[in-house]
Amino acid sequence: MNNYRNDFPLLSRKINGKGLIYFDNAATTPRPQQVIKAVTDHYQNHSGNPGRGTHTLSLESSRVLEEGRKKVLKFLHASPEEYVVIFTKNTTESLNLAAHILNGKSVITTVSEHHSNFLPWQNKQVIGVTEKGTINLSEIKTKEGEVLAVTHGSNVTGNITDLAAIVSIARERHLITVIDAAQTIAHEEVNLTETSVDFFAFSAHKLYGPEGVGVLVMKKHYLTAEPMILGGGAVDKVTTSTVLFKHNEERFEAGTPNTAGVAGLLAALEYVTSIGIKEIKKKETELLEHCLQKALTIPQLKIVGSVTSDKRTPLVSFTLGNIHPHDIADFLDSEGIAIRAGYHCAEPLHAALRTGPTVRVSFSFFNEKQEIDSLFTVLDICIQKFA
Ligand code: ALA
Repeated sequence: MNNYRNDFPLLSRKINGKGLIYFDNAATTPRPQQVIKAVTDHYQNHSGNPGRGTHTLSLESSRVLEEGRKKVLKFLHASPEEYVVIFTKNTTESLNLAAHILNGKSVITTVSEHHSNFLPWQNKQVIGVTEKGTINLSEIKTKEGEVLAVTHGSNVTGNITDLAAIVSIARERHLITVIDAAQTIAHEEVNLTETSVDFFAFSAHKLYGPEGVGVLVMKKHYLTAEPMILGGGAVDKVTTSTVLFKHNEERFEAGTPNTAGVAGLLAALEYVTSIGIKEIKKKETELLEHCLQKALTIPQLKIVGSVTSDKRTPLVSFTLGNIHPHDIADFLDSEGIAIRAGYHCAEPLHAALRTGPTVRVSFSFFNEKQEIDSLFTVLDICIQKFA
C-alpha cells in the first residue's frame, strides 16, 4: 500500500514549511497522477463538444461519456437494462435532481443527512439516530411516506447504514429509495443489482476523480420525468410552441457537459478498481482503529458517535475540551496537517447528538499510522497551548 502514496503529487507538498499530512479525505480526495494525466490528455488531444458535432474530436468526446456511463455501471455492479447514469456537477446536484424528479411525493429522511440530502426534500418527515449515530431504521414504520432518502455513510460519525437493510424496510413500506453515497463510494463495495435501490448519488472528487462531476444512477423508468434544466442537448425536437425531450440520460444533461471531468472519473474508477475496494478497506480500517485507540487515551477528547470501527467509513469527529474546533484546525494547519472543523454541512445531526462544532479527521488508504501519531503529538501540544 505504501507505494500508492507516490501516485499523488499533492502529498509531496509542503504546508507552512512542513510536509503535508492530508486528513481531509471525506471533504475531497487528492488525485493520483493517472487522473491528472487523463484530464490533461483530454484537453491536449481531444476536447470536442460531445454530441454536437460529427467531426473526430466531437465523436471522441461523445465516446468518453458513453464509456463513463458504462464504467460507472460496472463499478456499481448495475445492469444497463435496469439503470441509467446521469452526469451532474456533484452529489448535491444529483440529489436535487432526484428531488425534482420525485417532486410532490412525501419523503422520509433522517437527521443524519448532509444538508444536500435534507434541504432538497420539501415535504419530509425526519427519523432520528441513537446516541452512537446509528439511524433508527425501525422508526420508518411509524411514518407515512412515498420516498426514503437516506445517507449510506454519515459524513460526521462515519456510521454506515446497510443498503440491504434500507431496501428491505423500503420494500415493506413500498418506498422509493434515494441513497446519498458521497461518503461511501471510495470505501465500500456496492452491488446495485443485489440491492436494487432506485436512485444512487455520488461525486467523482471523493473517489480520487476531478471536481465538477457528479453521478446520479437511477432506474430507467424515471426517464419519463420532467428535466430540471432546459436547453441544448436534452431535446429531440423543438418548435416555437412545442418541445420533445430525449428519452435517455441526455434529457437531464442540458448544456455542454464536463467531458474532461468524466475522462478523469474514468481514470479514477480504473485506479480504484486496480487496487481493489477490499484492499482499500483493509488498510483504512487499520488506520481508523489506530486513530480510535489513540483518541480514547486522551481524557479531554470526546468522540462523536461510535468509538469502534464497525460499519464505519474511515473518519473520526471529536471535540477537545473547550478548545474551539477552528482553533484546533488552524493550529494543525500551522503544522502541515489538513483536517475539517465545524458542522460539516450537517447541523441537524450535531444538534441531535447534542454537540457543537467538531473536528473531523478522515483517512485514505495512502495515509500512514505514523501520520496519525504526528496528529496526536500536535493535539497534545494544542491541549497545552489552549488550556
Ligand atoms: N460533504 C463534504 C464534507 O463532508 C464537503 O466535508
